[in-house]
Amino acid sequence: LAYDPEVQIKVDYEKAASRRYPEQVVIALSRDAAGKVDPVAISWAMTASRRPPMIAIAVERTRYFLEAARASRAFVVALPSTAMAMETRFFGTRSGRDMEKLAECPIRTQPAREIGGVIARDALANFECVLESETGAGDHVVLLGRVVASHVNEDEALERLFSLGSGYQLGAVTPRPVG
Ligand SMILES: Cc1cc2nc3c(=O)[nH]c(=O)nc-3n(C[C@H](O)[C@H](O)[C@H](O)COP(=O)(O)O)c2cc1C
Repeated sequence: LAYDPEVQIKVDYEKAASRRYPEQVVIALSRDAAGKVDPVAISWAMTASRRPPMIAIAVERTRYFLEAARASRAFVVALPSTAMAMETRFFGTRSGRDMEKLAECPIRTQPAREIGGVIARDALANFECVLESETGAGDHVVLLGRVVASHVNEDEALERLFSLGSGYQLGAVTPRPVG
């Protein structure tokens, strides 16, 4: 058997994983036991089911958001626009454990009518989720949310925000169809 010369070089995990960008980022919002809304930036989010609609997010075990989601058994997944980069970075670098992020860094909100708390008015879309189950995944916990309400901002000019690299550089990605 003839082998092609090796082009794929075996490296450590972090080096290979750094090739995955651009990576989506969402804002997840959950209410803690006192009713305070904690917004966080989450890149590790996925569509997990269509019928019924479900979304999974991977939350590091140390996050205050995890406490909040366990207390309220619900969270919102918002798809931020490129205009929300500054706020997304703030929510993704500060902890709600000892601050109210929405007071320090406000975004425009609307009530989340099905689960309480708020949705992000200027996001492309928002999904209100009820916490269905959680699964431990190493240093993260995967929260599976069942979507109980979906919302869109009908402004077609809004562009989704992506994470462009490991340094939390955020930006726009222009689709360029191939094939
Ligand atoms: C672009 C970006 C993506 C992130 N993705 C995740 C993620 O998928 N999971 C996670 O647990 N934290 C993620 N973070 C980090 C959390 O948003 C950050 O630790 C936040 O401050 C946690 O806030 P909390 O302590 O109020 O929960 C991300 C941060 C940024 C800026």
